[in-house]
Amino acid sequence: MNVTRTSTDVAIVGGGPAGLMLAHLLHRAGIGSVVIDIRTRREIETTHRAGILEQDSVRLLTESGVGDRVLRDGRRHAGIDLAFGGAGHRIDFPSLVGASVQLYPQTDVFTDLADARARDGGDVRFGVGDVSVADIVTDRPLMRFTDADGRPHEVGARVLVGCDGSRGICRSAVPEAERRQYFRAYPYAWFGILCQAPPSSEELIYNHSDRGFALISRRTESVQRMYFQCDPAENVTDWSDARIWEELQQRVRANGYTLKEGPIMSKTVLPFRSFVQETMRHGALVLAGDAAHTVPPTGAKGLNLALADVRVLAEQLELHLRHGDADALERYVERALQRVWKAQHFSYWMTTMLHRLPDASGFDVRRQVGELTSVATSRAASTYLAEGYTGWPS
Ligand code: PHB
Repeated sequence: MNVTRTSTDVAIVGGGPAGLMLAHLLHRAGIGSVVIDIRTRREIETTHRAGILEQDSVRLLTESGVGDRVLRDGRRHAGIDLAFGGAGHRIDFPSLVGASVQLYPQTDVFTDLADARARDGGDVRFGVGDVSVADIVTDRPLMRFTDADGRPHEVGARVLVGCDGSRGICRSAVPEAERRQYFRAYPYAWFGILCQAPPSSEELIYNHSDRGFALISRRTESVQRMYFQCDPAENVTDWSDARIWEELQQRVRANGYTLKEGPIMSKTVLPFRSFVQETMRHGALVLAGDAAHTVPPTGAKGLNLALADVRVLAEQLELHLRHGDADALERYVERALQRVWKAQHFSYWMTTMLHRLPDASGFDVRRQVGELTSVATSRAASTYLAEGYTGWPS
């Protein structure tokens, strides 16, 4: 079959929130793009992800004209509960750092951006196959794919951006000799559920217990999101609703909470890892979001980091494409990596402070409680948590 050849300024592999936000920001700057994704729009919309937006992520959505729903349906969270040692301890963000976060699921951010691209006539192709990139160290890199009807396409661009997540093709399109991968695995995962029940708590509960970590989050007045630490090899079919509720209740009961129970609509085991690929550019290929870095979900940083990446990338791409600034893409990498490594530390710190290692000794658990006590009672330590959680200024 004949290959359809087209061209654009920026070819974007990956149509999740990072790829779509980048296309949206470029469109506002008068820069063209084509976005492709191997998943269908429905597949992306029905994959449950995290739900906390930093204040600058909310600002990016509202200032770029896609904030109507987050302002209407998002729920402001002015703090979290750190639960450990038999009680909850509130960390109050406004009094510590003058900021708060917004509970608004990632799938809704995706929907808002996909609607905006459709409204603005953006070129976004879902459900494509055979994706590859070529000629990445030339000034005319190519993105190839087969569309949902099986027709082959080749898009010539000035810059290629990999927003195709941790399992995408772009990070490994950088030759091995040109990249370094920093990686950390954890001996635990999260068992995530969505249930039909009223909220159990106004704010999120990050719960440390002898049986392991649990996180009580929320979605709407009648649907709630909760997680508990589990073995990475755990099988969801071994977990009846009754067994899940028993496990969750035991963990939070240790700190004086009781959960409101209801039918469980979704059960998934979520892997845990920390990952960074350096550098984030090779020739005309630039990486953003999970394609370049992954964090464990404890600090709710993944989506926020991806949005922070593409905000900076859109600025630097404009300098590069409009004003011929040859160093602009390198400055993107420098600016992005500073935040990435701070977020790597923050996510690692929250994770290791709250989760129980499978072979934890009495010392390990008591040391964690000591650390949590410091965080809850020292203004300096709780300010550090509040700064990281609500997001560092860029
Ligand atoms: C969620 O609501 O899905 C959520 C919230 C906070 C986290 C992770 C996930 O740290």
